[in-house]
Amino acid sequence: MTSIQSPVDESNRAENSADGKLTVEGSTYDLPIYKSSIGPAVVDISRMYAQSDMFTYDPGFTSTASCESKITYIDGGNGILLYRGYPIDQLAENGNFLESCYLLLYGDLPNKDQFSDFENRITRHTMLHEQMHSFYKGFRRDAHPMAIMVGVVGALSAFYHDSTDINDPVQRDVASLRMIAKMPTIAAMAYKYAIGQPFVPPQNSLDYSANFLNMCFSVPAEEYKRDPVLARAMDRIFILHADHEQNASTSTVRLAGSSGANPFACIAAGIACLWGPSHGGANEAALSMLEEIGSVEHIPEYIKRAKDKSDPFRLMGFGHRVYKNYDPRATVMQKTCHEVLDALGARDEPLLQVAMELERIAREDEYFIEKKLYPNIDFYSGITLRALGFPAEMFTVLFAVARTVGWIAQWKEMIEDPHQRIGRPRQLYTGPTQRDYIPENQR
Ligand code: SDX
Repeated sequence: MTSIQSPVDESNRAENSADGKLTVEGSTYDLPIYKSSIGPAVVDISRMYAQSDMFTYDPGFTSTASCESKITYIDGGNGILLYRGYPIDQLAENGNFLESCYLLLYGDLPNKDQFSDFENRITRHTMLHEQMHSFYKGFRRDAHPMAIMVGVVGALSAFYHDSTDINDPVQRDVASLRMIAKMPTIAAMAYKYAIGQPFVPPQNSLDYSANFLNMCFSVPAEEYKRDPVLARAMDRIFILHADHEQNASTSTVRLAGSSGANPFACIAAGIACLWGPSHGGANEAALSMLEEIGSVEHIPEYIKRAKDKSDPFRLMGFGHRVYKNYDPRATVMQKTCHEVLDALGARDEPLLQVAMELERIAREDEYFIEKKLYPNIDFYSGITLRALGFPAEMFTVLFAVARTVGWIAQWKEMIEDPHQRIGRPRQLYTGPTQRDYIPENQR
């Protein structure tokens, strides 16, 4: 049985706290400073309101650490991403997705026996309760698969009552494995439902990503020709998307979990947030953008639009709240894109030419240089996923399949954090001051 680590080290906080001082309107407040193992230290403002009767203000949380975590570290200035200290490119090149799942969940790379036990436990949770199949029939065939994912994942808590007690570490672990194991099945069923093909059950003889591709693309009528290059590419894409610190959807999962909601409901909340085009929906939007641009001749017009403040158009797949350098995942994704297109004999895919020329022009343009806008993970993922055979509306679903391990690892860390309380931000109120009710005939 894998040891479930407690992420918060009390001594770490006691040793590292030092005095920070904040002077506001002539009053000075003592605010402890906690040091990190790497990256920025934090100023603990949790006592600020009690001391000053004032709130701090940070609407986009650009300068706010919402929690202490030991899972993922991002250095946006240098384009570094570490899962439990291991660089993303090393994990993507040398490992597999389930190994990264074990690492994110339990804190260390598994040895041979730990991996084999973990893989067996995941494999035995890949099937979905037969009654859940009828959920799909309630959706229109043209429903966006993310709508199906939100609905079906939220409904899991109605079927797996024996892993919803968040205070039982064994049930937390089982719920985590169930989520990781069942997301590919749920996603593949959403895809099959959309194209009117029969659901394909999981095959325990296949590894995680090969099984997913088989459930998506095999049909009962003929033998499905499995391509190990494509399965490897799918597995690497899952690794790249597995976790990313306190991004919008992970913060949503943490906030939902802080109320004591069951893990399935929390993951459904994360899926809903990921759907947005500024977040996980950007891969679908980036491909649509490349298709709209159509050819390299049209690129200057779109670069001009992206820079025009009066035009809502933005280069999808460019820019990032944290990365002010090249997203290290985009580097691996671009390499994977070339490998997949080569394997499929589609090296001269026109959209790849448009994407590479767009990247070249944008990275030489003063506007993008000054604003530190680089390609992010979504810029090349759309071309790759389409080449693998997925329609654009499935791209964010694949992101959700991969990110489920990150969401659930962060959720577990939060539940096991003795400092954890329900998340309840305050506000800067600028609405009407108190006024008396006016009878309708006097309005
Ligand atoms: C993901 O947080 C995560 O970790 C997310 C993620 C993960 O793994 O979980 O990495 C996944 O969501 C990647 C990001 C995918 N989104 C996109 O590719 C959509 C396009 N990008 C932008 O919408 C934007 O860059 C964001 C949303 C990603 C980041 O927005 P910020 O940090 O709030 O930055 P901003 O919108 O304030 O932009 C700063 C400036 C602005 O100009 P000014 O107002 O300062 O003049 O840069 C401009 C923006 O107009 N800008 C862009 C741009 N992105 C920002 N201009 C043109 N094209 C763009 N893509």
